[in-house]
Amino acid sequence: MSTAVTTSEAALGGPGPGCAAPRHVAVIMDGNGRWAAQRGLPRREGHRRGVEALRRTVRAAGALGIGILTIFSFSSENWSRPPSEISDLMGLLRRFIRNDLVDLHKSNVKVRVIGERTTLSPDIAGLLREAEDLTRANTGLVLVVAFNYGSRQEIARAAQRLAAEVAAGRLAPEAITAELISSRLDAPDIPDPDLIIRTSGEQRLSNFLLWQAAYSELVFVPLYWPEFDQAALEGAIAEYRRRERRFGGLAAAGAGP
Ligand code: FPP
Repeated sequence: MSTAVTTSEAALGGPGPGCAAPRHVAVIMDGNGRWAAQRGLPRREGHRRGVEALRRTVRAAGALGIGILTIFSFSSENWSRPPSEISDLMGLLRRFIRNDLVDLHKSNVKVRVIGERTTLSPDIAGLLREAEDLTRANTGLVLVVAFNYGSRQEIARAAQRLAAEVAAGRLAPEAITAELISSRLDAPDIPDPDLIIRTSGEQRLSNFLLWQAAYSELVFVPLYWPEFDQAALEGAIAEYRRRERRFGGLAAAGAGP
């Protein structure tokens, strides 16, 4: 038996003092540009190697029995990058879907997409829809692609939907609860992430899943995204499992009457 298998079993299935294996892991894939700069390579090479790391991570998530993997692929704020870099990132998404969709489908991966789609170019919007449509009935890993995604914008869209229902007389303002807001987000059926990983050593959320992260555990990994692999994912999960999640309550030992 390989060490990797033993480690993954310990990370995900084995008993431990902390919490159970995470069902939903979300990843901020950061550091492609710095990885490239360190090697004197163009940023697009960093992004290209980032796609390879993404493939590895999807495979690792499946192998480790993670139920849901959310990836921050392109943020609402990434439009402020130079046009050539935006074009590189759009090209990589096109190629990722065209080259990898069949394999993802064969691997029983179900693709979901969150983010603002109405402003995307028709070909990109079409590819994202194709990925969701082809894999809709799959029952394995759920891969949530956050594309043209910003959490504040997602919350604003939810607020607009609720405001429209109030304006139409179908909803009383005092009936708006946290649960109702959750139900109008982009993927209301997806449970909140248990674990959010950010690579590159930066320690912030950068407008990613702000609402859903209320009780997520955050793990910051000091590797650039192109260096991320199954061992790094297992390490992050092992750190997560050492945490004690209280959700605002008390630790188990202090939870008596
Ligand atoms: C952060 O690196 C990464 C991104 C802006 C996008 C993530 C994209 C990929 C992993 C490749 C593309 C994949 C798809 C499916 C589109 P950075 O450029 O912010 O790195 P830096 O902070 O070191 O400059």
